[in-house]
Amino acid sequence: MALADFISRCDALAEQAQKAFASADSADALEAVRIEFLGAKGGQLREAQKGLGKVDKADKPAAGKRFNEVKNQVERAFAESQEQLASGKSQAVDTFDVTIPGQPVRIGRLHPITQTIREMKDIMGRLGFTAVEGPEIEDDWHNFEALNIPLSHPARDPLDNFYLGGETASGGSDSPLLLRSQTSTVQIRVMENTPPPVRIISLGRVYRPDTADATHYPMFHQIEGLLVDRGVTMADLKSVLRLFCQSYFGGDDEVHVRFRPSFFPFTEPSVEVDMNWRDAAGNSGWMEMGGAGMVDPNVLRAVGYDPEEVTGFAFGLGVERICMRQHGITDIRALYQNDVRFLEQF
Ligand code: PHE
Repeated sequence: MALADFISRCDALAEQAQKAFASADSADALEAVRIEFLGAKGGQLREAQKGLGKVDKADKPAAGKRFNEVKNQVERAFAESQEQLASGKSQAVDTFDVTIPGQPVRIGRLHPITQTIREMKDIMGRLGFTAVEGPEIEDDWHNFEALNIPLSHPARDPLDNFYLGGETASGGSDSPLLLRSQTSTVQIRVMENTPPPVRIISLGRVYRPDTADATHYPMFHQIEGLLVDRGVTMADLKSVLRLFCQSYFGGDDEVHVRFRPSFFPFTEPSVEVDMNWRDAAGNSGWMEMGGAGMVDPNVLRAVGYDPEEVTGFAFGLGVERICMRQHGITDIRALYQNDVRFLEQF
């Protein structure tokens, strides 16, 4: 037998024996382990000793030395175990080393879009707006009809919407369901169920069949705001949007909000909202944030409100755009590729 084989057999035996003695937790168990390793007949140590005879003559001194060491180790393990049992101490307690460094825990992070959404909810919450949610699968009434988008309107084009093939809205209507193309649907859902005044925001996913590129993605998020009460004006809209942008981006620097005339079927008058703010890198310039306007009387009527009694404003802003601008992200696709190296930065 080669010396190396003999030695590795001895080492394995020593390790096994030490473990077995350490875990013997009763006198009977200890005796069984003693017989297994130290037994005069057929004990493992005795068996290993037989191997000593088969080692080459020149290697005998080295082999014998190692064997004796192992024998001492095993006998010591037996003696220690015996002592511990006698003193009534549980070995498990003794062998727990609290100073061993633990496994580091990998801490997850919130997605940058989720962080942006939470911050927006927080800011708007302080301005008195309650966050509500609506379904992502919508019917014709909430996505179009009640928002003053008639049947003939190009916004309903199948090329601009994700219609769900074959599905129709419940309640007997035969109009198709679709993935909502805007969060304005939630305005209708809230107003249908609550008498004025209302002051809500809704944040969520919307879907449009755009080809993905640096600034487009077929799914993105909007923040929708709606305030309906007596005497609400465009000035209130602009103040709320300016306060919102100032709180989100501002710090000490001033943020400017600009309105450009526009058209949406559900608001009159309608505007595009732009914002200007100098970021940490010194970049500034007008950025399009989304659309807004005064809720169209037809919409108020559709939900049973009296446009002679109350007026309201609504806005819908792109969450990705704001998040990207805040962090200097230049490609929207990076937000949805789930590359941990990217996500770890936020
Ligand atoms: N729903 C519009 C869009 O998706 C934005 C908008 C919301 C405009 C509310 C006016 C009022 O483009």
